[in-house]
Amino acid sequence: MDKILEAHNLHKKFDGISALSNFSCFVEENEILGLIGPNGAGKTTLFNAVTGFLPLDLGEVYFYGKQTNNKSPYKIVADGISRTFQDLRLIRQLPVMDNVLLSFQDQTGEKLSSVFFQKNKISQTESWNRMKAESLLEYTDLSELANELAGNLSYGQQKLLSIVCCLATDAKLFLLDEPVAGINPAMREKILSIIEDQKKEGKSIVIIEHDMDFIMEICNRVIFMDAGEKISEGTPDEVRNDPKVIEAYLE
Ligand SMILES: Nc1ncnc2c1ncn2[C@@H]1O[C@H](COP(=O)(O)OP(=O)(O)O)[C@@H](O)[C@H]1O
Ligand SMILES: [Mg+2]
Repeated sequence: MDKILEAHNLHKKFDGISALSNFSCFVEENEILGLIGPNGAGKTTLFNAVTGFLPLDLGEVYFYGKQTNNKSPYKIVADGISRTFQDLRLIRQLPVMDNVLLSFQDQTGEKLSSVFFQKNKISQTESWNRMKAESLLEYTDLSELANELAGNLSYGQQKLLSIVCCLATDAKLFLLDEPVAGINPAMREKILSIIEDQKKEGKSIVIIEHDMDFIMEICNRVIFMDAGEKISEGTPDEVRNDPKVIEAYLE
């Protein structure tokens, strides 16, 4: 399998505390990688570093061989890495549909030159985006809520919407930060099947999650981290049975 993302020797400290300490990892083409570890282990910091939300103290990240850790979040999404946030970051005052539309990469209408010279292209792109958004909402059973304000959705529906917005970017690699934490079993199953569908479509997914059953069910490989360091890596079974992992969870 080809490695599509490689992170080398990442270091990040906050007030002297290491959130990432000589952390290296890779993501293979078309795999589902689980990232587990206790609160404060540095999991979200890794996502922030990979997606350009946080400058590293040291280290490099490569996506398809191109260095990305000096790029802006916007450019990194355009390169094909998209993410969700633990705190969702939806635009709560806007309808569900608009949240999805704003996630598309092809926002021709935003460029001033386009406004004057490419009126037809803008309307074409916008209607194409609207069709894509409608089909995404249909696929995830959110169609009936398309005109509802995102802030009025249940927590589970908001989590689902944040995943829809992530998928709307049509990235190659999705980074999902606790996609099923705090939601009901039916929504958990729905999100599980969406992630499986993405794998079938050739995407790669990294999932941060505390729900070990979910990780065991869906991931082909798992990394366990603690205090910014990689403690264990392997198949879900190997990691779950690694004495270092058991010890860290019992501490
Ligand atoms: N923006 C920040 N400012 C200061 N400290 C931070 C910041 N982000 C994360 N940290 C600290 O870095 C460590 C790792 O946090 P985080 O990556 O959020 O852990 P996890 O996602 O594994 O729970 C924690 O000690 C946390 O308090
Ligand atoms: Mg986190």
